[in-house]
Amino acid sequence: MSAVVRSVVTGVGAYLPENVVTNHDLSKIVDTNDEWIMARTGIHKRHKAADDQAVSDLAVEAARNALADAGKTPHDVDLIVVATTTPDLTFPATAAIVQRKLGCNVGIAFDVQAVCSGFVFAMTVADGFVARGHAKCALVIGAETMTRLMDWTDRGTCVLFGDGAGAVVLEPGEGQGTNADRGLIGFALRTDGTKQDLLYVDGGPSTTGTVGKLRMQGNQVFRHAVINISEAVVAAAAHAGVDVADVDWFIPHQANQRILAGVAHRLGIDEKKVISTVAEHANTSAASIPLALAEGIADGRVKRGDLLLMEAMGGGLTWGACVVRL
Ligand code: ACO
Repeated sequence: MSAVVRSVVTGVGAYLPENVVTNHDLSKIVDTNDEWIMARTGIHKRHKAADDQAVSDLAVEAARNALADAGKTPHDVDLIVVATTTPDLTFPATAAIVQRKLGCNVGIAFDVQAVCSGFVFAMTVADGFVARGHAKCALVIGAETMTRLMDWTDRGTCVLFGDGAGAVVLEPGEGQGTNADRGLIGFALRTDGTKQDLLYVDGGPSTTGTVGKLRMQGNQVFRHAVINISEAVVAAAAHAGVDVADVDWFIPHQANQRILAGVAHRLGIDEKKVISTVAEHANTSAASIPLALAEGIADGRVKRGDLLLMEAMGGGLTWGACVVRL
């Protein structure tokens, strides 16, 4: 079989802002309590960016950690893809700001907007450059300041989200074209724009001229999440030529412990194979998958050579999954 170039994850990094907000803290702002939040979501606490921290600052910290893990410097980077719903500015892209703050050379840098599915979408976009020889050292970053989109009078949404950033370095690696290769080996992406009303932000530059606040029909989103994510997991595994049962670690978008458990139950996955950080981080949208990956590696569960399945659903609705051998 002829050699095939794959996009190999050679470094992983994470960053969480210092400020921690507990469920008890939130109970002083809205009519809620720790018991309700824990029972319905599994969330115990979340991190909140400082007032003077922009999302690019979070992204830069995660990127520095990922580059150090890969043994690379900012000068090696020739592609930056940032998945974010909460950019510093309407333009330029947060990726361009990250490029400047890191001190990278001129290269390719742009953002991907697929809300909570952003990291999965960004991985496949970056793969299009790395696997085709257009980039030798790519940073794929999921970074969010979701707390800036909250309506702090809406207890149905403001308890669910947090801030943070995670990043991976992708480099080309030659494989045999089988699912034993290291790298991104399969994916499935979906968007259904007819479901916009279930989860959206009610502002934007070409409509209200404001940033807006997050609006959600939580129980409807929940119902679609389990069905849609399960379908994408099966489709991505088929594209990669692996069985769902062969996957070593499921690294899901961390929206709600009940969604994680629902998908695992529907697909017959042992919950011990699911990396969960939702209790500590809440929903950090596009950042949640690389944050969970970093945690799984840091605590020694996820190792080089393991078969990983990352999956997500978010506003759009968007959803998808990708299969990566680490
Ligand atoms: N504290 C206390 N009570 C609350 C709170 C709160 N923070 N929020 C809502 N309630 C109340 C409601 O007002 C309602 O009261 P009522 O019966 O008197 O009217 C009651 O709890 C039940 O409300 P529901 O919305 O039906 O509760 P549900 O069991 O659906 O849980 C939740 C709500 C947690 C939002 C759930 O629907 C969910 O997790 N949905 C998925 C949403 C999600 O994760 N979105 C993230 C973006 S998309 C993604 O990442 C997949």
